[in-house]
Amino acid sequence: MSMVGIDARARALEALAGEIAACHGCELAATRTKTVPGTGTGSSGICVVGEAPGAREDQVGEPFVGRSGQLLDRLLDEELGLTRSEIAIVNVVKCRPPANRAPKPAEVSACGGFLERQLEVLSPGVIVTLGNVATRLLLRTTEGITTLRGKTFPYGSTVVVPTFHPAAALRGGADILASMRADLVRAKEVAQCS
Ligand code: URA
Repeated sequence: MSMVGIDARARALEALAGEIAACHGCELAATRTKTVPGTGTGSSGICVVGEAPGAREDQVGEPFVGRSGQLLDRLLDEELGLTRSEIAIVNVVKCRPPANRAPKPAEVSACGGFLERQLEVLSPGVIVTLGNVATRLLLRTTEGITTLRGKTFPYGSTVVVPTFHPAAALRGGADILASMRADLVRAKEVAQCS
């Protein structure tokens, strides 16, 4: 992509971040410290979609800057040879749910338009969904991540590669981590073909 393309993309994402900062579309607006619109323009063609900001993300205003984020950064480096600056990272929900509870359906649906528009602007070659919330939303399914991972799914003109959420790997150990590594390698192969 040309630098003009990346500049235009960055401007469009910044405009969306402004809309997100002003949003009071659900009850999470009342308890958030900062909105967390996402980072990166996705020059590698890869977009990662997480669930919702946690405590640290809420303070900093950036996705995946806590323990899950450190693991994500390590996997991106070791399996894809990429830094987070080359990847777009967004969440389904842009404000922290209190006490890190799962986002409610009303919150997911209030924020859904922002995610859709971010994906339109980013136009990634591959979308890596982390965990159940992001995967179920994009694939419009109630199946769980354990069933869905290890496969690729069409999503408009792009492809979704579902994998576990890094928080699950932090809790669950070696098998989950190995699956995440394999899924990221698959995502890289898809991105290179797109
Ligand atoms: N977990 C997520 O799903 N997103 C973040 O930004 C941080 C932790």
